[in-house]
Amino acid sequence: MASFTQRGVVLLLVCWAALCAGDTPANCMYEDIRGTWTFYETERSGDNTINCDTLGPIVHTKTFTLSFPNTVMDELNNEGTWTLLYNQGFEVTINERSYFAFSYYEGSWGNAVSSCDRTFNGWSRDKTVRNWSCFVGNKTTPVAPRPTSRVTVGESQLQHQYHNDHNMIHNINTMQTSWTAKAYPQHEKYTVQEMLNRGGGVGSMLTSPPTPAPATPEQKARVSLLPDNFDWRDISGQNYVTPVRDQGSCGSCFAFASMALVESRIKIATQNQRSDVFSPQVIFLCETFILLKDVVSCSVLAQGCAGGFAYMIAGRYAQDQGLVAESCNTYTALDDPCNTDASCGRTYVSDYEYLGGYYGACNEEIMLQALVENGPLSVGYMVFDDFSNYEGGIYHHTGTKNEFNPFEATSHAVLVVGYGVEPTTGEKFWTVKNSWGSDWGEDGYFRIRRGTNECAFETMALDVTAIP
Ligand SMILES: *[C@@H]1O[C@H](CO)[C@@H](O)[C@H](O)[C@H]1NC(C)=O
Ligand SMILES: *[C@@H]1O[C@H](CO)[C@@H](O)[C@H](O)[C@H]1NC(C)=O
Repeated sequence: MASFTQRGVVLLLVCWAALCAGDTPANCMYEDIRGTWTFYETERSGDNTINCDTLGPIVHTKTFTLSFPNTVMDELNNEGTWTLLYNQGFEVTINERSYFAFSYYEGSWGNAVSSCDRTFNGWSRDKTVRNWSCFVGNKTTPVAPRPTSRVTVGESQLQHQYHNDHNMIHNINTMQTSWTAKAYPQHEKYTVQEMLNRGGGVGSMLTSPPTPAPATPEQKARVSLLPDNFDWRDISGQNYVTPVRDQGSCGSCFAFASMALVESRIKIATQNQRSDVFSPQVIFLCETFILLKDVVSCSVLAQGCAGGFAYMIAGRYAQDQGLVAESCNTYTALDDPCNTDASCGRTYVSDYEYLGGYYGACNEEIMLQALVENGPLSVGYMVFDDFSNYEGGIYHHTGTKNEFNPFEATSHAVLVVGYGVEPTTGEKFWTVKNSWGSDWGEDGYFRIRRGTNECAFETMALDVTAIP
């Protein structure tokens, strides 16, 4: 069986060959994962530098039954929780331990087959994050192998220079009045591949993204008490959001959204006494790190330039390893060898969760409440070609196509910082920090239609508790 490192190295080489697509090719759904699993676990003697490429002797064999919506039970009827990570793998929390593994697959992009009844070697650790082991999971009932059936843009087309489509921009601006589009000359320095990367990479886009969970009467009642307009950039004159950054040409949006989330949470927790800018590079270069055998400073929980998820970075990685300052490891948007100074201070999170407790429990109401009570939230949503040309207003997908560039929908990660209602039209919106520079959109921000799950915006919000 290919170890995760071997897989990582392959992905890295694939990135260097500029074929990089987001995430892993695994495509495992809720019903594939739900059921009874056996976890084969090694001795609990490691720390957070543990390397699970090879499993080592199995010391514990655990049976976990994962049921709807997010309950886990072991053979002694102890209860815990679980969540899917999109279509990539799953996390189980029970008996004071947390287990995460990516779903197994063979092959590479374009011709991969997922075996959703198996995992790659994963990581298990206790609540204190000091007591680590490795494990592999096998489901007791088989799941039929699933070929990845994405149609991807041809490789030669990906290397073409990106062009603004002035005709599409004109169409957007004449067909509706909610938002305006414009040409961004600075985008033309990128190839089509790089523009797709900026939107998160086409990797593991779900063919049918989840719908929001229905709001409970209790959730609705709580939301009715919230203000009509809210913005973390101006709470009685205080700004709790750090400056907009530019991720450049690579698929590191998930790292930028993660850093932005923890940065805001630290500002809120310290009432702006601290204003950190954390380094997305640490995560971005994870595969390089494995090559350099420096697992401490790097995350095996993401696929570097090939993408990843804020849940794994602002959540699990920030809890396991902590984040370092930008000055400690400057972001380059390149596959540079990493050089995090081991003496740099680290900032941790004590808790992280998909809103509602698991992937699938999100909705507008729960996002509004968490946003006001806890702070900005990291959100994943779908980017279409019209979005790149957003200038201002309240975005919704118009269905217009860029004629020059074979653009596919991608899965992007951003930070939602506020919400409101447009006074003249009554249209509800979210206010969102992007990572495409401050010369894009509304000073680096955009607004997007709220309450209708526009571009799956209300299905995957992440909350963390940062430790200042
Ligand atoms: C880790 O926790 C287990 C109990 O789950 C305990 O038996 C073991 O001694 C701990 N290991 C270390 C290194 O603390
Ligand atoms: C898990 O299942 C796979 C495939 O059926 C098998 O090759 C592997 O040996 C199993 N792992 C363990 C630890 O039993």
